[in-house]
Amino acid sequence: MRAFIVDRYRKKGALRLGEMPEPALRDDDVLVEIHAAGLNLLDSKVRDGEFKLILPYRPPFILGHDVAGTVVRVGSKVRRFKPSDEVYARPRDGRVGTFAEFIAVNEADLALKPKNLSMEEAASIPLVGLTAWQVLVERAGLRKGQKVLIHAGSGGVGTFAIQLAKHLGATVATTASAANTAMVKALGADVIIDYRS
Ligand SMILES: NC(=O)c1ccc[n+]([C@@H]2O[C@H](COP(=O)([O-])OP(=O)(O)OC[C@H]3O[C@@H](n4cnc5c(N)ncnc54)[C@H](OP(=O)(O)O)[C@@H]3O)[C@@H](O)[C@H]2O)c1
Repeated sequence: MRAFIVDRYRKKGALRLGEMPEPALRDDDVLVEIHAAGLNLLDSKVRDGEFKLILPYRPPFILGHDVAGTVVRVGSKVRRFKPSDEVYARPRDGRVGTFAEFIAVNEADLALKPKNLSMEEAASIPLVGLTAWQVLVERAGLRKGQKVLIHAGSGGVGTFAIQLAKHLGATVATTASAANTAMVKALGADVIIDYRS
């Protein structure tokens, strides 16, 4: 299959479009044909070698943490998905590689794509969505009526976090540059602070 490959860790190094073997399917894996992949800051940091100590991917490897696509095949133990299901995912660390034609994803890392989202929209969500969920829901236990300050509300994580915090019933203050005031207000922020002033 074709994929964008990291041949060696290098700051700002270009990816190579080349051939890689189709991923092997484990019993609890789902083979996904990739329709859209999200590009995240984390991908450039991995490529630069900044994460080598915690995420020791050995070149040549395929980058990419966000994916939306269609199920092609499922492993023998998979129960929740079947061929032709539309899905999206943030594959677990050690098994990333969404800048390709196919990826094998553990069933537990996969969800059905909401029907009202395009493949491109769905592929933009998993990593930033999980980051916002982990901090606001799992770590902070944010509840209705509480107040929360979200720094960098205009960024990839921030735009999702503002909406999630509002959905949970919190009052949201956020920092952003003046140019993005209207955008974060439209997402639901109650108090907007220009971090430059
Ligand atoms: N992306 C992920 O999935 C992910 C996961 C885990 C952790 N993180 C971490 O979360 C942070 C944000 O990541 P991101 O992907 O959301 O980045 P991003 O999309 O590049 O957004 C960064 C935002 O930071 C804002 N900003 C710049 N200087 C600021 C300042 N002094 N005070 C407040 N805001 C400032 C910018 O706002 P303006 O454009 O309005 O100037 C920009 O929108 C990073 O530290 C990243 O390492 C990200």
